[in-house]
Amino acid sequence: MKDSKIESKPILKYWLNTLSFGGLVFLFVCYYYFFQGDNFSLEMINKATASTAIILMGLSFALSGLGYYWDFLDRKVPYRKYLGLVGYFFVLWHGLNSLYFYFLANTGLEKFVLHKDWLVLNFTINNRIPFVLGALSLIIFTLMALISNNYSTKKIGGVRWRKLLRVGYIALLFALVHFTVKNFEIWINWFNEGANTLPQMSSLIAVYIVIILLLRLVMQISLSRKPKPEKLITNKSEIASRITRGSSMTPTLRQGRQSTKGRGKTGR
Ligand code: HEM
Repeated sequence: MKDSKIESKPILKYWLNTLSFGGLVFLFVCYYYFFQGDNFSLEMINKATASTAIILMGLSFALSGLGYYWDFLDRKVPYRKYLGLVGYFFVLWHGLNSLYFYFLANTGLEKFVLHKDWLVLNFTINNRIPFVLGALSLIIFTLMALISNNYSTKKIGGVRWRKLLRVGYIALLFALVHFTVKNFEIWINWFNEGANTLPQMSSLIAVYIVIILLLRLVMQISLSRKPKPEKLITNKSEIASRITRGSSMTPTLRQGRQSTKGRGKTGR
C-alpha cells in the first residue's frame, strides 16, 4: 500500500482497500455460517453475499452519521462510495443467484417457492411479499449505484443528488422486512431454546440495520434542530437600514461564522 504509485492515486488506494476489506468480511461471514453448521454450498454463498452486502453498504450509510459526530472519522468519509459499490456487487450477486434458485434451478427448498406462507407472530405472510420487497430493494440499490459517479452528481446537482441517495434507507428497510419474514420463526426458536448457540447471522444483520436507521433518525433530528445560518448581510443599504431600525448585526455575523465551522457536515 506504501507504493508511491498508489499513494499518488487515492482512487486506486480506496478501491484496493475497500476490495480487500470486502473480501475479508465475506470470508468471515462464510466462516460464521460454516461454524453454525451450514455446508459449503451455493446456497450458503447466497446467504453470505447478502449479509456481506448489508455489512458493507450499512457501513457506507453509517459513515455519514459517524463522521457527523466524530471528527476523527472524517478521513474515512471518502470510503462511503467504495463501500457502497463493493456492497452493491455482493447484493447483485445475491439477487441474481436467488432469482436463479426461484425460477431456474430446482432446489427443492421452500424458501425459493413463491406460494410458500411464513408465520410471523400470529400473521401468515405469503412469500411474494418478501420477494417483492427484496426485488424493490435491489432496484433502488441499482439506481443508487448508477448515479454514484461524478458525471451524475454534476448533472443532478449536489444537493438533489444527496437527497436522492437517502432513498437507500428505504431500500435498507425493505431488505430488513424481506429477510425478517423468512427468518423470524428461527430467531424466536433460538431464543426460546435458551440462546445456547451463536445467534443466526441474519438476526445480527437485522440489529445492525436497526442501529443504522436509528443513527440516521437521530442525526436528522439534530440537523433539523440546528438553527439555519442567516444569510450574511453584505448589502450596504440593508446594513444602514438595520442600524437605523436598531437591530443588531452581531448574531447574523456570528451565525455566519458558525456555519462555516460545520461546513460539509450536512450528512448524506
Ligand atoms: C430479486 C431480489 C432478491 C431475491 C429474489 C432475494 C431472495 C432471497 C431468498 C430466497 C433468501 C433466503 C435464502 C436462504 O435462507 O437460503 C434471502 C435471504 C436474504 N436476503 Fe434476499 N433477495 C433479494 C434481494 C435482497 C436484497 C436487495 C438484500 C439486501 C440489501 C437482501 C438481503 C437478504 C438477507 C440479509 C438474507 C438473509 C440471509 C440469511 O438467512 O442469513 N436480499 N433473499
